[in-house]
Amino acid sequence: MEVVIRPNADAAADLVARVIAREMRINPRLVMGLASGNTMEAVYARLVQMHQEEGLDFSACRTFNLDEYVGLSGSHANSYRHYMNRHLFLQVNIDLQNTHLPDGMAADLDAECANYERVIAENGGIDLQLLGIGQNGHLGFNEPLSAFRSRTRVKILSPVTRAQNAPLFPRPDLVPQRAITMGVGSILNCRHCILLATGEDKAAIVAKAVEGPITSMISATALQLHPECTVILDEVAGSQLNESDYYHWIFENQPQWEIFRATLPPVAPNGFHIKREPEKQPAK
Ligand code: GLP
Repeated sequence: MEVVIRPNADAAADLVARVIAREMRINPRLVMGLASGNTMEAVYARLVQMHQEEGLDFSACRTFNLDEYVGLSGSHANSYRHYMNRHLFLQVNIDLQNTHLPDGMAADLDAECANYERVIAENGGIDLQLLGIGQNGHLGFNEPLSAFRSRTRVKILSPVTRAQNAPLFPRPDLVPQRAITMGVGSILNCRHCILLATGEDKAAIVAKAVEGPITSMISATALQLHPECTVILDEVAGSQLNESDYYHWIFENQPQWEIFRATLPPVAPNGFHIKREPEKQPAK
């Protein structure tokens, strides 16, 4: 596992987007695992911008989302299909046929889960898996005690998760009780994982996930077992880590990060990167 701490949430999301874009340019047929949630919106916005300004090409890539609520159709405003269409798919030149999410309305949910795993395998497996992290350390909807060898299946959402996602729904009781999620084992199968976490409310769970003991009570600790996992944080999300000086040193000195260091915005005297603000128009 490698940990990269950026000065702020924009810089962290920008780095994630640039790592993804680089992989897409190397392999236009990249199979991407995608995630939803507030944290990812900045990543998708940056990818859309790269598509518009730099011609980043999505036409041949294939995507598989981590999860979908049971009982919500793709057209429901709170479904993850709707989220993905809105934040990414309908804003880039991706072929919607190449975008996959579990069908939360499937009549036979178990068959749907098995089929999802089959289609991932038919596409050669996931090359790059993007991950967020829930307050309880879940990946996708792998709630506490999810087996590390679990595959795509239906999970009952924990009260913590339902409360965390409630602000996105018209009423808290409308948050579905179940979701289809790729398993921890499905996630560990992918070739490269990138976990993005930003904001103070993620600091405690990030420290447990990255530096704490491996436990199925916190699914994200399973990433410590993954041979190629990159955790990208902003300063506040990384603020409870013990070894942050070491992580900073790696990013600043190791050759694999050189191309990503080179294109960062200018550095202010306090050592933080300056966010470029749009020029203010003079008052008329
Ligand atoms: C949901 C998703 C997770 C995501 C989490 C974090 O629970 N199922 O995949 O990681 O939200 O969301 P946010 O980025 O809004 O904190």
